[in-house]
Amino acid sequence: MQIRKRDSRRLLITLAAIALFFGTRCLVAQETERPWMNTKLSPEERAELVLKQLTVDEKLSLVHGNGMAHESHWTMPLTHLANGGAGYVEGIDRLGIPPLVISDAGYGVRSSGANGRYSTAMPSNLGAASSWDPESACAFGDVIGGELRAQGFDMTLGGGLNLTREPRNGRTFEYAGEDPLLAGTVVGNMMKCEQAQHVIGDIKHYAVNDQETGRFVVNSIISKRAMQESDLLAFHIALSIGSPGAVMCSYNRINGDFGCENSYTLKDVLRKEWGFKGFVISDWGGTHSTEKASAAGLDQEHPMAEHFGPKLKAAVEAGRVPLSEIDDHARRVLYAEFLSGIVDNPLKMGVVDVERGLEVAQHIEEKSIVLLKNNQAVLPINPSRVHSIAIIGGHADVGMLSGGGSAQVDPPAGNAIMPPGKGATHWQDHVWFPTSPLKALQTKLPNTKINFDSGTDVQQAANLAKNADLAIVFAYQWLSEGMDLPNLSLSDNQDALIEHVAAANPRTIVVLETGTAVTMPWIDKVAGVVEAWYAGSAGHKALANVLVGDVNPSGKLAMTFPKSESDLPRPVIPPLPADAEGQGNDSVNSGTHVSSYAAHYDEGPEVGYKWYEAQHKQPLFPFGFGMSYTFYTYSGLTVDSSAKVARFTVKNGGKRAGTEIAEVYATLPKGSDESFKRLVGWKRVRLTAGESQSVTVPIDPRVLQTFDGSKNAWNFAAGEYEVVVGSSSDNTRLKASLRVQ
Ligand code: BGC
Repeated sequence: MQIRKRDSRRLLITLAAIALFFGTRCLVAQETERPWMNTKLSPEERAELVLKQLTVDEKLSLVHGNGMAHESHWTMPLTHLANGGAGYVEGIDRLGIPPLVISDAGYGVRSSGANGRYSTAMPSNLGAASSWDPESACAFGDVIGGELRAQGFDMTLGGGLNLTREPRNGRTFEYAGEDPLLAGTVVGNMMKCEQAQHVIGDIKHYAVNDQETGRFVVNSIISKRAMQESDLLAFHIALSIGSPGAVMCSYNRINGDFGCENSYTLKDVLRKEWGFKGFVISDWGGTHSTEKASAAGLDQEHPMAEHFGPKLKAAVEAGRVPLSEIDDHARRVLYAEFLSGIVDNPLKMGVVDVERGLEVAQHIEEKSIVLLKNNQAVLPINPSRVHSIAIIGGHADVGMLSGGGSAQVDPPAGNAIMPPGKGATHWQDHVWFPTSPLKALQTKLPNTKINFDSGTDVQQAANLAKNADLAIVFAYQWLSEGMDLPNLSLSDNQDALIEHVAAANPRTIVVLETGTAVTMPWIDKVAGVVEAWYAGSAGHKALANVLVGDVNPSGKLAMTFPKSESDLPRPVIPPLPADAEGQGNDSVNSGTHVSSYAAHYDEGPEVGYKWYEAQHKQPLFPFGFGMSYTFYTYSGLTVDSSAKVARFTVKNGGKRAGTEIAEVYATLPKGSDESFKRLVGWKRVRLTAGESQSVTVPIDPRVLQTFDGSKNAWNFAAGEYEVVVGSSSDNTRLKASLRVQ
């Protein structure tokens, strides 16, 4: 018996040794036959090794898409391989290089309804940016990356990063606000963690794609200096944090040339100045030429092969496009494949981890909600005093709103307010998630009488409010790609609804579900305002936690809320001229038509809070503003000029634990032509009741420099920079200076 046991153990050990031997030999053999599979080599080296093996046709197959699923006008022979996604690029099967299976994933994976799958909706990107929290941004990307993989995708089209120059922009909710450091940090961290899930990351829409009106033709006119210090800086910061494999060039023109054939933004800046090694993909239908685009630095056309298919091949054969250019495009695609790990981790479909997605979405929303007004501590709701609540409007009985367009995430079981029997979701439907804040509040406040009124009849709503201890109006503003708002007013008579309800009950709170700023003509009449953004798959629970005080709000605005459109750099978005008609919204112009339509960004780098400060205009709510159920005091600022750090103390002076986002701004030395401060750093500080903490915030030198457009160079002006610290861009309580030699 003993002997048999020993023998069998020996046999096992021998078998294991044989398996190991052959396994290693297989690996060695694979690495000898396919040296690019050696993971010890860098992505650059591996890409170079593959490139050497490719035929010209294989290289050319890497530089264009093969159609878009669910779009009959964008169908090609291989579109069926797109897995229901936005794009597909062939792999090189004989060499073990996988195809790119690409999906939109702005705040969650798109088209899950049409594909019979499930995706988590995170809070909108603008909402997540209001957490000012790189860790939340990372969790956001991590969940989306995991869900992309589980659904069979290895490349994302997330990473919206256009600065909020134009708050009426229909895509504002897809972006991360108005400041380059905040937006770049948030989106960079999203992409870092999304790509870590082995999906190629992407940031978009490069560049100055700051309005939707005339998006296929508009010429964004802006000085090099202004562009470098604002919109481009945000991209540079995100790239340096997230190293996404891809950058999507934009539909619009930038100082004359289309974003996808603009040699200044693509070649001079992205590739040469920033050393970007990944590939540039066109926005869908945003390629306008073959030779010009290829030479300018577009690497991959999407979703079709109109300019980078047979036309590019012919141009190569005729010597009009050098083969070295094709090599460069292909090398960049391969580099991103190795960088993101999609070669070493082949796609394997799985089941989306629904529970985890919901948990993360809820936590991010809890950090993103911004408390804008709270008179006489109307919030949090105290059930010992509040026995009845009137909930009004916003379909709060059934759900919460989401943002539309290519970022749209499909809710489980479809649109919560769609009439039964209505079929598939159109990309511009107003989609409500089945996340009822009314039900979530009922769960939190089981002994409180809660009644609902749809708000359609303002008088009826006011009557309900009058007899309740508290009224909560849910107000919304729908946004989508392919449109801009005519103004920042709430739609659908909601201002009148709020006025009526507040007149009937001064203890009225407004909860906003918006994708951008709104004007608030009723602000002095309501007791509280809570900005919940588009709150995602678990937003109702997060919101209820904030309303009852289980979560102390900590979010701060990532964009300024103006008092009125007349305070904006452009009080009205210039209307489209006749020659651009039909190309402004829902149609793609892939031709060469050049319209005279332009957006003149004369405010230059004065985006958002910088504009209001420079123009001495008081906003409704400033950038960086957000309240809490406790209060914080600041003291003892010192600045270490050589280490470039600010040190100060933050104290929680109230009776609840909370998190304060402490903000650090700097103004350029005297003699500069700037009359605004720049955000240079911040810290989220978690404090128990009464606790003090000493805080150190590094001052990011990238945002202190100025760009000299004539010399194409950055300057770090010598002198004294005023450094101020506080709770928002217009409440900076401490002052010190930073000396640069
Ligand atoms: C949008 C992109 C999107 C692409 C694919 C375009 O219309 O501008 O953001 O990724 O479509 O759906």
